[in-house]
Amino acid sequence: MKIVFATHNQHKLEEVQALLPPTIKLLSLTEIGCTEEILETASTLEGNAKIKANYITNTYGYDCFADDTGLEVTALNGDPGVYSARYAGDHADAEVNMDKLLANLKGISDRKAQFKTVVILNLNGKQSVFEGVCKGEILSERQGVKGFGYDPIFKPEGFSASFAQMSMEEKGRISHRGKAIQQLVQFLKSL
Ligand code: IMP
Repeated sequence: MKIVFATHNQHKLEEVQALLPPTIKLLSLTEIGCTEEILETASTLEGNAKIKANYITNTYGYDCFADDTGLEVTALNGDPGVYSARYAGDHADAEVNMDKLLANLKGISDRKAQFKTVVILNLNGKQSVFEGVCKGEILSERQGVKGFGYDPIFKPEGFSASFAQMSMEEKGRISHRGKAIQQLVQFLKSL
């Protein structure tokens, strides 16, 4: 069975492929010749994941899954949420986004936050949704250099290290994306 993972990130694709039986072969967007940008114009994570998965299924005819992730900060009413990648502006990088988040939380003692990943799967004409959440808190300054995005300022609940101080395997076991993908993998294995 061939399924498209709606990503250009070969590294992400290989991580998920390694969890699946060899009978399920994942294809990246590059492999199916999809080079056009798919605009994520929805106001929810689920909406954006649907846009990506449906675009691939409708345009290229493949079964497909797509993910979308956001960091939801309680004291900021769930921001940056669906806008996590462009919190400080359309071309903002992770450093600028973290600076903005730390500035907005300055002097605020409620540091609770969670990462959420939503995965939408289009398979055999049916759509399924999988969700993974990782609860934690926003640190007052950066800790660690691994990972990406907001990892240096996010400390998962029950741990003393930030995501940026964990190995990829350790983070993958407890992370939002890891949890959502594990559910997807269980579902695909059960077919
Ligand atoms: P995406 O939907 O996976 O592209 O994630 C959207 C944005 O959320 C990214 O650009 C990052 O800023 C942030 N993000 C997603 N996953 C993580 C993570 O595991 N650690 C830190 N930041 C993340």
